[in-house]
Amino acid sequence: MELSDILEIISPELAEVEGELEETIKSQIPLVYEISRYLLNGGGKRIRPSVLLLSSGACGLPNGKKRISAAASLELIHTATLLHDDVVDQGEMRRGSPSSNVVWGNKPPVLVGDFMLAKALELIQNCGSIELVKVVTDASYKLAEGQILEVMNERSMIEVSEATCLSIIDRKTAALLEGCGRAGALLADTSNGAVEALSSYGRNIGMAFQLVDDALDYCSRESEFGKRTGQDLIEGKMTLPLYYSVEVAPGEVRAKVLSILEKDELESSEITEIREVVSDYDGVSLTRNAAKRFAADAKKSIENLAGSDYKKSLDRLAEYVVERSF
Ligand code: IPE
Ligand code: IPE
Ligand code: MG
Ligand code: MG
Ligand code: MG
Repeated sequence: MELSDILEIISPELAEVEGELEETIKSQIPLVYEISRYLLNGGGKRIRPSVLLLSSGACGLPNGKKRISAAASLELIHTATLLHDDVVDQGEMRRGSPSSNVVWGNKPPVLVGDFMLAKALELIQNCGSIELVKVVTDASYKLAEGQILEVMNERSMIEVSEATCLSIIDRKTAALLEGCGRAGALLADTSNGAVEALSSYGRNIGMAFQLVDDALDYCSRESEFGKRTGQDLIEGKMTLPLYYSVEVAPGEVRAKVLSILEKDELESSEITEIREVVSDYDGVSLTRNAAKRFAADAKKSIENLAGSDYKKSLDRLAEYVVERSF
């Protein structure tokens, strides 16, 4: 299933979002504009604005300028966090190109990330609804909390529980997608039931989305994924593909893995060994199965919405998120 087919119904609006983003990042400071454009034009999937636009459509609002500004605002929040994330994770590749921190060093991308967050607030404030501003501020603080929670658990992999993994994901990724569903519904001025339904849809596909990102980190090809693979283990991050394989591995394998993970730095032979365990004990499919359950919950959340092509696209998007390979 191609993403472009699923999003075809909103393709004119997505083009407008691109125009809005381009206008918004224009700055009199050339480096701000240069870095912003480098990442924004680097080929992102635009999942977050898509969820917002499909949600508002599914609630009966298929047009209007505010949707475009709100969608651009949420994509800017996402883009800002990618700038910050690559500094924190010492990322090397993003969207198939060297990441901004590699091109410009750490300082400019951190500050341009701040610029984008401020611009995101400006865009949402222009929509004239305090409720929408709250959607953006809630998503932003939760995202920051999730990123901090992840850093706090770095390099203590054997102590990290499934619940902690899920709570990190809930904040760092699901909160923003929840905000996208919620903002779309709020813009349509619909019933409370529909607002909650689309918030829950967004949160659940957000969980599925990050679980698949974590699975792809163990199994995808870099050329397709557009990012370095195997990064999570190198960065000392426990994610569910590894967690689930350790859980089902026989005692002696588990003991060996835990003794390796206890160390501060892993040698390359140890990294290979751990990756083999993830592959032998199906960590990737176990994680995709968990993602499937969240995607099913996402679809269930919106089952009572009136039928429409927008709703069909939301259903298909939930399936795409689980099956995607980049
Ligand atoms: C990457 O998000 C960060 C995660 C939350 C896993 P995306 O995979 O949506 O990134 P782009 O925008 O398409 O590059
Ligand atoms: C993404 O987590 C979370 C964000 C909020 C940016 P990752 O650190 O796994 O994202 P990638 O893999 O670098 O895109
Ligand atoms: Mg990260
Ligand atoms: Mg990262
Ligand atoms: Mg990742």
